[in-house]
Amino acid sequence: MNLALVTDRDTDQAVRAASPLAVRGMTVSYGQTPAIFSVDMTLRAGAMTAIVGPNGAGKSTLLKAALGVITPLAGSVTVFGGTMADMRARIAYVPQRASVDWDFPVRVIDVVMMGMYRQLGLLGRVRGAHRALARDCLDRVGMADFAHRQIGQLSGGQQQRVFLARALAQEADIYVLDEPFAGVDAATEKAIIAVLQGLRDAGKTVLAVHHDLATVPDYFDDVVLLNTQVVAAGPVAQAFTEDNLQAAYGGRLTTARADPESVAG
Ligand SMILES: Nc1ncnc2c1ncn2[C@@H]1O[C@H](COP(=O)(O)OP(=O)(O)O)[C@@H](O)[C@H]1O
Ligand SMILES: [Mg+2]
Repeated sequence: MNLALVTDRDTDQAVRAASPLAVRGMTVSYGQTPAIFSVDMTLRAGAMTAIVGPNGAGKSTLLKAALGVITPLAGSVTVFGGTMADMRARIAYVPQRASVDWDFPVRVIDVVMMGMYRQLGLLGRVRGAHRALARDCLDRVGMADFAHRQIGQLSGGQQQRVFLARALAQEADIYVLDEPFAGVDAATEKAIIAVLQGLRDAGKTVLAVHHDLATVPDYFDDVVLLNTQVVAAGPVAQAFTEDNLQAAYGGRLTTARADPESVAG
């Protein structure tokens, strides 16, 4: 190949092909002003990436647009270099817990089985092996004893564990979670981070919106600082700096540190 003919576009194509999830030029608007503007994000395979930023920064919007849950004004997404349509089965998504209707009368084991509809097909018979996988996933999050409870009767932390179990049942390569630690007890936070780190150590890719700045360096390899636009992104050691945090949170940073709830969104 003549190197002189390698364009920026070719280079980016190679970058995207190597990335589990790459977002380019993503802009989403619900009304007059954009919720996210011209966002680029390139996940590193086998890494845990945090998206952090103040309340209303567009973190959930970025996840939803990247996954095709909402339609952006502009932008494109590749999954392992391919299209979302072709690669959807390789991604598991755990939405923000507050956005789920917990009155829905369904048992824990069935919530987990819902994660497996791609294996099952819409009319597929549930076999013993499927049930065994669902139980194994509940066991991995410490919820094996709750399989036959109604999901609405569980605590917030228990519900979050069940949703993680459902994501595990998808046997995906990329795990996307929106504030998995919001409103959960300390034991659940430990259990969830252990499962996520186990996935990472098995070569999977994890992307999570995270609201506790203090634990970012402990939990994550890479970080995206978002405030409508990307303020900084990269390995935590390089991107998670005082200056970048100041730029992302502005005057809200001091408040954010005193009261972590004030940056949850
Ligand atoms: N469905 C919606 N309709 C209108 N505005 C929305 C909707 N969802 C989010 N927004 C607005 O878009 C901005 C970004 O929201 P969001 O992505 O939820 O931020 P974050 O997750 O960082 O707290 C906020 O100003 C929010 O009010
Ligand atoms: Mg959010």
